[in-house]
Amino acid sequence: MKALVLSGGKGTRLRPLTFTLAKQLIPVANKPILGYVLDQIAETKIKEVGIVIASETGDYVKEYVGDGSKWKFKVTYIPQEPLGLAHAVKTAQKFLADDSFIMCLGDNVTGQGVKALVEKFEKQKLDSLILLKEVDDPSRFGIAQLDKKGNIVKLVEKPKVPMGNLAIIGTYLFSNKVHKAIEQIKPSWRGELEITDAIQEMVNMGFKAKADILNSWWLDTGKKDDILSANARILDEYIKLDVKGETEGSTIEGRVKVDSSSKVVNSTIRGPCIIGKNAKIENSFIGPYTSIGDNSQVTNSNLEYCVLMENVVVKDVERMEDSLIGKNATVTKNLKCGTIKLHVGDYSEVEV
Ligand code: DAU
Repeated sequence: MKALVLSGGKGTRLRPLTFTLAKQLIPVANKPILGYVLDQIAETKIKEVGIVIASETGDYVKEYVGDGSKWKFKVTYIPQEPLGLAHAVKTAQKFLADDSFIMCLGDNVTGQGVKALVEKFEKQKLDSLILLKEVDDPSRFGIAQLDKKGNIVKLVEKPKVPMGNLAIIGTYLFSNKVHKAIEQIKPSWRGELEITDAIQEMVNMGFKAKADILNSWWLDTGKKDDILSANARILDEYIKLDVKGETEGSTIEGRVKVDSSSKVVNSTIRGPCIIGKNAKIENSFIGPYTSIGDNSQVTNSNLEYCVLMENVVVKDVERMEDSLIGKNATVTKNLKCGTIKLHVGDYSEVEV
């Protein structure tokens, strides 16, 4: 059994961050979402991992994952033009050879991991196993229709008129029969070879395809608000009280993690929160569900439900909420003038 992790794609919904970063590397609780995906694969017996990358962002992924030894994996990088999830499988055919594999989207993670799923797939000798979860906005996802016994009847990618609310989440298991199904499908209306169509083809061909309903949380970090809620969920789940840095004149409430190289001065930090390396928080309030990246500085400001990536400066901002701030960005309030002065990159969103 192998693993195929999809870390290519265009990341258009997360511009401008994805101009200088792969979307799978956007940090959630100060760790790239791809890191959580690889951690979960490392809990299985799988040792060979193929990582699909795009030409624009592949080098960032390579820099983060390296040779995979951190996870005890043998990693093969597979460059791909982003022409769909089934196209990624097709591109990875040489790496996959005749083996079964788990395919994980590098920007999706669930609360239950993948170990039990891999075991079920192997024990039941399935050709395909997918995970489903009820969603409120079915037109954003691949949707599956099941019969009364739970067998897959129909699958549609991002239906304009939803035929149900069971979304296909980003963890798939396949036998080598998936390649036969992919040979049969054509690009969809959005010009992509859809894995949803390939699974439908496997069902039509009478292969053993099953779906499980996911009983835990699922994070799909496709858009800004998804990243903020993923950050909140992961902080809630994993952060324990662990304050190693200086906290002179400060109040720490709840589950807060402060790296030993960071300083919190005359401030209040209310968890769940994480403060990375070499950060400085001064005369500020950092409210729940906030992640402060390495080398960031927050001065005279109040923040809540925010993600600050590395090297961010926030100064004199009375209240900042629901915000995702990219690397090396500065957000300040000019105390002398009442006008707003902006220096904002392409595709940014500013709400004032
Ligand atoms: O998030 C779950 C959804 O993921 C499913 O419900 C859909 O059925 C499935 O098609 C997929 O939809 P998205 O439109 O959200 O997929 P996205 O383009 O965001 O790509 C998912 C991941 O795969 C992302 O990490 C980028 C990577 N990717 C994507 C494409 C299209 C590749 O590596 N290569 C590609 O060609």
